[in-house]
Amino acid sequence: MERLTATQIPTVELDFMNHDHAEASQQINSLDQLIKDGLAGDLSSQEKIEPLLIAMYEHSETHFAREEAEMMRVNFPAYGCHSGEHKRVLEELSSVLQQWQESGDLNQLAAYVDKTLCDWLINHISTMDTVTAMFVGRYDQSAA
Ligand SMILES: [Fe+2]
Ligand SMILES: [Fe+2]
Repeated sequence: MERLTATQIPTVELDFMNHDHAEASQQINSLDQLIKDGLAGDLSSQEKIEPLLIAMYEHSETHFAREEAEMMRVNFPAYGCHSGEHKRVLEELSSVLQQWQESGDLNQLAAYVDKTLCDWLINHISTMDTVTAMFVGRYDQSAA
């Protein structure tokens, strides 16, 4: 079963953000599956974890940069708060990758995905991303 289902991911007012969120949740589901297969003893799954973690970091960078560019464009008042959270999560993902490279500890990685990353994504979308998308939508409507 997939770790994150489409119904768990809130829809926001901007399509490009919904696309990025769908991609992020697909990557989390793939990682979750690789971890499960790895815990069952599948070595080829374990080997795919590092490139996927790198791809997740890179996608997060572009996903966050797209939101930040929109926030700058419309002078979003909570830019610092929202972009600061992006920065924090990129640092976290980078240290998770480093930990994985050093230890290869599947249980530690499983706990991070299950207890931290999934909840973070859902919370972040339902709070900061939702408010940002609403603000951008209203800005564009009033400018039209
Ligand atoms: Fe987002
Ligand atoms: Fe965001």
